[in-house]
Amino acid sequence: MLNNTYSEEIKLVAKPGEIPFAKGLEGVPVGESTKSFVDGLGGKLVYHGHPIEELCEKSTYEEVFYLLLNDQLPKESELRDLTRLMRSYREIPGDIYDLISKQAPRYGVHPMSVLRTAVSALASYDETTEEDSPSEQRRQGIRIVSKIATITAAIARARQGKPILSPRPDLTHAGNFYYMLTGNTPDNFYARLMDVLLILHADHECNASTFSMVVVRSTLSDLYSCVVAGIGALKGPLHGGANEEVMRMLQAIGSLDNVEKFLDDAMSQRLRISGFGHRVYKTMDPRAAILREHAREVTRRAGTEHWLETAERIEKIMAEKYGQRGIWPNVDFFSGVVMASMGIEPPMFTPMFAVGRSAGWVSHIIEQGNDNRIFRPRFIYVGPEDESYQPIRDRK
Ligand code: SDX
Repeated sequence: MLNNTYSEEIKLVAKPGEIPFAKGLEGVPVGESTKSFVDGLGGKLVYHGHPIEELCEKSTYEEVFYLLLNDQLPKESELRDLTRLMRSYREIPGDIYDLISKQAPRYGVHPMSVLRTAVSALASYDETTEEDSPSEQRRQGIRIVSKIATITAAIARARQGKPILSPRPDLTHAGNFYYMLTGNTPDNFYARLMDVLLILHADHECNASTFSMVVVRSTLSDLYSCVVAGIGALKGPLHGGANEEVMRMLQAIGSLDNVEKFLDDAMSQRLRISGFGHRVYKTMDPRAAILREHAREVTRRAGTEHWLETAERIEKIMAEKYGQRGIWPNVDFFSGVVMASMGIEPPMFTPMFAVGRSAGWVSHIIEQGNDNRIFRPRFIYVGPEDESYQPIRDRK
């Protein structure tokens, strides 16, 4: 843990490794928040005190978004107002559909890159972007959460060469997202499953993408700039990009008989098994447990039980051989099996994560701005000192 040495003016000049520091800010609190708490040892996650298991069972994404934004569950009239507002914000400008139609099908362009570009472009169509009042920021946040689903669905359809579908006001946020993604009006099962997916991804305390956003907010930059920064962070395979890697791993393993050798080879080469491990959870990620249960029915309906069987074999062997090292399944491990079984292609898994996490992102950005201090940590300087300038003609 850092001590107050760092708060005194000390000369942060040393030889490499001489002064200790928290690499990756491991274990370092960087602020206070009421949005969510991750109990890494107990394997629990609460959104403003509400256990994730109960929210998945009883709540909806709109209600969870209200909870994260306002630190309380909504009354009926408040939920109705938010739902109505989100529906009114779902549509996106034609220019952004055009941008998506041009960029999404391009070879080698990752959907997260198109999502990042499209959200950035959204700012040019929101005349309040530079307005910093709390009320305007809340509306911008609700717009972003509402539109990021439409953008993501449009990217998925454009990638597949299918017609982009306009939002439907008669469906819930999750139901409409499922419809725009697949072209099918969801039955209760799929509408509920999408709601659970979005709720499970809605927030997770100070993860890398949320942290990157609050750093941008701490300079008092605008909400769109914050969200674009976070999308960039989420794209990485150590963070949100892991769910896509998990499906690649399941496909690479192929049959159940290959699982143990695949894992032993990877672990002996000190490779990272995607979907496993976590900076905070040192036991099973509660979201992975919930997704594993939902995976049973969706894989049965899709005839993709083999994905779940392979995933559970991986889980079993990892627990037996490496569980004592605190390497357990995280949210990304079973989410890929669920999304693939819903007919979603792996490159779209991380944008799906972004659609859910957008609620937590905007809530933390606004919370940070309410009690702001610019983030400005230090590097320990381990470079040379007092170098003299050598004319170029004398440099060897
Ligand atoms: C998400 O922060 C969040 O809350 C993120 C998230 C959210 O909701 O926002 O929960 C979403 O990003 C989940 C994580 C998705 N990423 C992956 O599944 C990628 C694989 N996981 C690892 O890269 C890793 O576990 C991290 C990145 C998730 C955590 O990295 P840490 O905390 O820096 O841990 P580490 O890499 O320093 O590993 C510590 C030890 C190492 O052993 P030693 O070298 O010290 O002997 O654990 C081992 C690692 O080798 N280890 C793994 C492993 N994860 C950690 N070994 C094999 N496979 C793994 N996946």
